[in-house]
Amino acid sequence: MRVGVVGLGYVGLITALVLAEKEHVVVGVDVDQGKVEELRCNRSPFYEPGVEDLLAKNRVTYTTDYSALGEVDLAFIAVSTPTVGGKIYLDHVFSAAKSLGEVLRREAVVVVKSTVVPGTARKVGEVSGRRVVSNPEFLREGNAINDTLHPDRVVVGSSDREAGDRVERLWEFTGSPVVRTSLEEAELVKYASNSFLAVKVSFINEMANLCEALPDCDVEVVARVMGMDRRIAPYFLKAGLGFGGSCFPKDTLAISNFARERGEDLRLVEAAIQVNQLRPTRAVESLREMMGGLTGRRICILGVAFKPETDDTRESVALRVIQTLRGEGAEVVVYDPRARTREARQVDSRDQCIREAEAVVIATEWGEFRGIEDSLRGKFVYDGRRVLDPSRMDRRYFRAVGLSRSGSTSGQG
Ligand code: UDX
Repeated sequence: MRVGVVGLGYVGLITALVLAEKEHVVVGVDVDQGKVEELRCNRSPFYEPGVEDLLAKNRVTYTTDYSALGEVDLAFIAVSTPTVGGKIYLDHVFSAAKSLGEVLRREAVVVVKSTVVPGTARKVGEVSGRRVVSNPEFLREGNAINDTLHPDRVVVGSSDREAGDRVERLWEFTGSPVVRTSLEEAELVKYASNSFLAVKVSFINEMANLCEALPDCDVEVVARVMGMDRRIAPYFLKAGLGFGGSCFPKDTLAISNFARERGEDLRLVEAAIQVNQLRPTRAVESLREMMGGLTGRRICILGVAFKPETDDTRESVALRVIQTLRGEGAEVVVYDPRARTREARQVDSRDQCIREAEAVVIATEWGEFRGIEDSLRGKFVYDGRRVLDPSRMDRRYFRAVGLSRSGSTSGQG
């Protein structure tokens, strides 16, 4: 098929690259001239495993000019949908829809891939004057290509059978189950899924808080045993500093405000947001208590990306930990294998970061932060992502999310 993709951010670029890899003719459009030029030189605007290899094959045409989409059968809208003042901001989506309406053939189909509140795709249909399909994306950063090649399910929401069939055919190569839904169901599935996972993370984080207040209790054990129940499943039960990234924080906020405007409070989603907002403060309090004050103390933060295998720091909890520590007068030095930040002085090596500081906070679970127990000797340590082995740490100088503050859970390393 001839496919257009509007918006070459995370979702748009990965969609374009994967479809081109599957022998479709793909044109990618973005309003950002600089980004388009970078892509034409096969340079990715972000770090994502596997993207450089696909870019190097050079199969997608990149342009800022919508008229390049005149011949496509399908045009994806994959522009960003930020949450501004608690509400979803949809201007990019509608301006893309309007531009598509001016260039697409009459029988072309507009496919909404951006995460949008229910009712948006219907309006996109009106604005563009074309048939519309909602085809939400569930890819995770760091695993984006694999998730696009092998999704757990493909959701195709449409009231037009033939338009839906066309999108279904496009994703046939995945071999994944396809679920046909209404436009609004497809839009809500995305929010319901992300919100549920956010609730799961906040739930285990509250259990972690409780474990800390009990003797001989480790949330890792509690989560592992909970996850053995097939009804619960082991995923998204990793306690830590909380969820960040470009999706969970903005989507939970957008859907709870959207629901409230319709007279329905999503109490569990709102609670998940609140629990998450308290994570950095709790971590800093714990560190302050252990160190007997933070003013003038030098603290090393290991990891600023919102999760490993990405250089993305959007809504990263690590950044909030850094801001809170600096607000308390601490001096912060950071290290991350990929991500960059201006929030604090950044050094190029993990060992230098540790060496320079009196205390170490693990804020992202990069592989290279595992097994470093010995190099942390003599430092105060707060393991915000549970990567260290507590039995190898000296409990007088060590705290970890979800690990008893007292009791004999671990040895005296
Ligand atoms: C998420 C969804 O998984 C994906 O389906 C959707 O399309 C976009 O949003 P992503 O933001 O890339 O993907 O990250 P994800 O791996 O889901 O993690 C989200 C956040 O939750 C991260 O900050 C992660 O550290 C945190 N998390 C996740 C936990 O704290 N504990 C867990 O058990 C799982």
